[in-house]
Formats: sequence, structure tokens, C-alpha cells
Amino acid sequence: MTRRPNLLPLLPASSGPHGSRSAMTCHYRCGDACSQPVPNTSANPEFHTVAEQALGRRALLGAGAAGAAALAVSGLVAEPAAASPRRPAGGRPVDHRVSRAAFTAVPPNTDDRVTVPRGFRSDVVIRWGDPVEPGAPAFDVHAQTAAAQRKQFGYNNDYVGLLPLGRGEQLLVVNHEYTNENLMFPTGTDPELVKEVAMAAHGMSVVQLRRGGRPGSWTPVPVRKARLNRRIHLDTRFALTGPAAGDPRLRTSADPKGRTVRGTLNNCAGGLTPWGTVLSGEENFNQYFEGEPDPAYATSYARYGINGGSTRGWATVDPRFDLAREPHEPFRFGWVVEVDPYDPRSTPRKHTMLGRFKHEGANVTVARSGHVVAYMGDDERGDYIYKFVSAKRMAKGRSRAARRHNLTLLTEGTLYVARFTGDGLDDDTFDGTGSWIPLTSDKRSYVDGFSVADVLIDTRLAADQVGPTRMDRPEDIEPNPVNGRVYCALTNNSNRGTTHPADEANPVTSSMVRGSLDAPLTPASGNRNGYVLELAEQGDDPRALRFRWNLLLVCGDPEAPETYFGGFPKEKVSPISCPDNVAFDSQGNLWVSTDGNVLGSHDGLFRVPVAGRSRGKVEQFLTVPVAAETCGPFITRDDRTVFVAVQHPGEADGATFESQASTWPHTDPFPRPSVVAAYRG
Ligand code: FEO
Ligand code: CA
Ligand code: CA
Ligand code: CA
Repeated sequence: MTRRPNLLPLLPASSGPHGSRSAMTCHYRCGDACSQPVPNTSANPEFHTVAEQALGRRALLGAGAAGAAALAVSGLVAEPAAASPRRPAGGRPVDHRVSRAAFTAVPPNTDDRVTVPRGFRSDVVIRWGDPVEPGAPAFDVHAQTAAAQRKQFGYNNDYVGLLPLGRGEQLLVVNHEYTNENLMFPTGTDPELVKEVAMAAHGMSVVQLRRGGRPGSWTPVPVRKARLNRRIHLDTRFALTGPAAGDPRLRTSADPKGRTVRGTLNNCAGGLTPWGTVLSGEENFNQYFEGEPDPAYATSYARYGINGGSTRGWATVDPRFDLAREPHEPFRFGWVVEVDPYDPRSTPRKHTMLGRFKHEGANVTVARSGHVVAYMGDDERGDYIYKFVSAKRMAKGRSRAARRHNLTLLTEGTLYVARFTGDGLDDDTFDGTGSWIPLTSDKRSYVDGFSVADVLIDTRLAADQVGPTRMDRPEDIEPNPVNGRVYCALTNNSNRGTTHPADEANPVTSSMVRGSLDAPLTPASGNRNGYVLELAEQGDDPRALRFRWNLLLVCGDPEAPETYFGGFPKEKVSPISCPDNVAFDSQGNLWVSTDGNVLGSHDGLFRVPVAGRSRGKVEQFLTVPVAAETCGPFITRDDRTVFVAVQHPGEADGATFESQASTWPHTDPFPRPSVVAAYRG
């Protein structure tokens, strides 16, 4: 049943650059990034000509064969093993593993709730304002304080990761990307209090979970017993590591040595490391700064969209957000952060070796040699995909010495940026080719005119010099632990083909969209629905300097001519729009969550096999409430539980605290971003 009691009427999907994203979303989330000039003004090559060639060949030779043939030829993957469902006495077999379970896809809908397939349940695990640290007061939206919020679950949960604990417990780690002040605070709340609480609602949370009452369900351990619980926020002390730590550009009046930063900002996606830590990407950090930009840094600021135009007003609470007073403070954000959730007293770190840009996240794999490779996207129209290869090998085993060693792996190595080319197109495999261009190691820069620290601090400017490919907002990029291939969500770009003609990060310059569920498909300029890129490193070695690539998904409505679903019959897939986050289950199935659906439905989560006869079979597993995006996702190791973060429910134009577009999860008269667990129930 749809639950939208007495709520703000929803406006039709906007034609904003983020798809259906409202003007309000743009304002709070990314500081209206798409209304600013594209920061990448380089003449570097584009992607869509190459991709169009690949698509054209697929169309010519028939949809079904291409993707499957590519993988069969590669020998990288095998047909999924047959499921072995439990058969209850006298009943039909039921498979509790979401990797293998047959389910009827959730149809597109606009319900103000989380919808899962018949036979599954979903529970809210933790909500904005719930207690995390001891001493957290009961949540009272009319009596919020920064001190309380620093002990409570933060706002706008995005990344979700789980790490194993003893006694069957799990350690949940979540990013809190940004805040929607107009939905969080009653009209008339003291503006200074609003700023202080909003600042405290950013960051991350670490929460111990134990099994719930049903198989597959999870619930927080009572705070008094949860000794690993932790809130990380804008007052948490971070250490800078790597070659750029201590650089004069990282020094401020509060940190004259340039080695310690207060807090983390706009943490979007992330990933787990094999040594049991969490990586988190600082994304749209530029939007928090106000004041007169220092002309000495004009080129760098412009490339990162730092214009002093923040309307959040944080500088009155903390002068470091005033560019005129602390021109170096923006250089201290835009990094990949590493947190050790197993040690709540540990100092989280910002790794300069992984470069500074609008980091969506970072995901790690280990080469056969033992070297660690991290894949990263820079989420901006026309920006690049990067990878880092460690100098040292990962230590095996679980000794303290091994872990201590592995905690240093991201501080030395080489940073690369990707160039995609099409001259390797093959009539059998349809793969493009590409190369990783070195930017710098920890000891030597490969970019003329840039020192090692220059490359790491002004990574975008350095990359511009070496001819990488301008991509279409690279979001989550993650290696598949089963087939070794790397999958990247490129979410959308409405400017493609019009005011942004030179950006080739997408093969589509015209897309079919619909304003509501019952509206017909209509053409819209640009790439509105995004796509999923599949990348195979040469020799299956993540350290390789060459790779091949495929377009696994060209997203949209199956009836739209431009769409492609890994070769699977289009009449048998769910519509999918604006991929954002990716994850894998134990069978190597890809799970894709979306942000900004322009097909009339709410955003959701989709399961997509990447191998065998079902390759490209997009099935919708879940939808989220009004005006929310689906984040996470995370599949537990036993494949029994799917975690998602429901971010910014009710984020619609015109919504206020008193006039909400959603009240999900319907525990209060206002929305509360929450983490949800879905399982067979
Ligand atoms: Fe925070 Fe790129 O999404
Ligand atoms: Ca994202
Ligand atoms: Ca992911
Ligand atoms: Ca997003």
C-alpha cells in the first residue's frame, strides 16, 4: 500500500542535469555542480565515438551473442553453479541466498516505502538520530544539539559495508554524505544551531550489529554493550599520509605542519580492504567553502569547482570554511579516507598517494603478486577513472605485524589514469582497448612541470596533461571477486551532445525518458540513463598497463532503441536508470543501485548476472521511497541479506520540515534516512 499521508504534491521529474534530481537536491548535495561550468576544459579525448562503434557492431550482429561471446572467449567466467535450495518438508524449495533466489522483479512504482519481491522482507536497521555512542540522548527533532548529533547516527547514509565480528556479530560502517537542512529542522530554528548540527550529521558511523529475530535479519547491539561503536565527524582528528603530507599547501593556522586534518566531508561511496579497514571517498567537498578565493590558487580552485559560493554559512561557526582566512583548507579534503573500525580509538587517515579529486569511493583488489590495486572514479561530468598500485605486497596471515604492515600499503605506489581507445574493437568480442597512464609514484612524477606533491594535490590538473579519456561522471568502480573484471557505473549526463558536445563519456546523446509511470517514452537530449562499463585487465593482472572494455549495460527502458543489456533479451529485463553504486554477491552477480531515475519510477536496486545465459538479465529487487536514492548496497557473505542505504527520502522541490514529500520510514512526521536489510522472510 502506498503511504503518503497528507503530503506535499510531488512535482514532475525535472530535466536537471542529474536526471530527475530536483534543484534542491543539486543545492544540498553537490553545490549545484551541474549549473557551474564543466571544470575539465582540457582537450583530452572523449569516449562516445569509440563506444558508438561498439554499440553499432552489437546492433548489426544481434544483441544476444556479443556479451556472452566476449566472456566465453576470454575464459574468465563460468556458468553459475546450480543452486541447491533447501526443501522444507512438504513445501516448495526455497533458496534463501539472494545470489541464486528466483524472484519476480519488483515493478516500477512510486510508493513511499521500500518494496521487495514477494517472499522477501525488509527491516529498518538504523535511522538518522538513533544512538551510536554511549550517552547519546533519545532523538528529539525539536531539541537537536551538535553534541547529541555527534553521538547519534548521521544524516544521508550512503556507503554501507559490513565487517565480521566474533559471536556472529557484524560491524556496520556507513558514510553520511550530506544534509538536507530544510527537511531536518523546523522552520525558525536558530540558523547557527542548524549549521552546528548539520556539520555534526556529516561523516561516518560504525555500529555493531547482531542477528535479529528472523534468519537474515540484523539489529544494532545495545549501545552500552557495543564497544566498537563510533561516530566520525567534522571534529574527528585525521592523519595525512603519503608523499603530499606536510606540503605547504596542506598547512593551516590550526595545523602549521600540514599533517593533521579535522574531520571528513561529503563521504559518498567506499569499499572494504582485505586487511579489515574501510575506504571512504570525500566527494563534493568544494561546496562547503565561502569567501574570497585566493588568486594564488585560482587555477586549482577552478578545476575543483571551489568558488567560495557556499550558502551553508559554516564560516560563522568555524572560520576554516572561509577561503579568505584559510585558503589551504580545501586542499585538506577530496581524499580517500581509511578507517579501522576494529579500533575505535584509532586515528583515521587521508591517503594523499591516492590523489585528490571528487572521490566517489575506492575499491581494492589484490594481484597474484600480492600488490594491492585500488580503483577510483572522479564523479564530475568529463572527469577521469584512476587506479593506484601499491609498491609493497600485502602480508598474509592475521598477525598484528601483518596488519600493521598492510595498514601502510596505501601510502606508497603509483597512481594511474585511464585512457579508453577503440582500435582494439574485435568482431567477435566487441571489446575496446585502453591503457593506464602513470601520473606519479611516491618518488617520481611522470607529468612534466608537476612534482609528486603537485600531482597528488592537483590530480585533475596533472591528469589533464597526459591525455586520459573524459568520462561521464564515474561513480562506483569495483572489481568483481569472482571473474576479476572491474565494473564502473557512469551515471548520466544530460548535457551530452548539446552544451557538452566534446564529452565522450557516454555513447548516448539522445535518450528516451518518461515523466511519470503512465506517460509515454519521449526523447530527451543527452545521456539520461547512464551505463555500466566492464573492464578486463590484460592477463587478468590488476597491475597491468593495458585493458579491454565492454559496455555491459546501456541503461534505460528496454523499449528504447539505445538500450542494451549485456545481450540478454530486452523484453525480459527491468527498466533501469542512472546507475550509481555497485556490489557483488558470492556468485559474482552484479548488484546495481540507482540515483535519479528518469523513467517515472522510484530508484532501486537490481541484480545482474554477468556470466552465462543470464548475463545482462537486469531484475529489480527493491525500490525506495519518495525522492530517495538507493545507496550501499552490500550483500552479506552468506548471501542471505541485502543491505541498502535509503538516502534523502523526501528530497523534493518545495519540501520543508512542515510540508514533507515523504515521511518514510513512517515513525515520525518527517523522513529519516535509514539503513535497510532485505532478506527472505
Ligand atoms: Fe555521491 Fe557520485 O555520488
Ligand atoms: Ca554515488
Ligand atoms: Ca560498491
Ligand atoms: Ca548518489
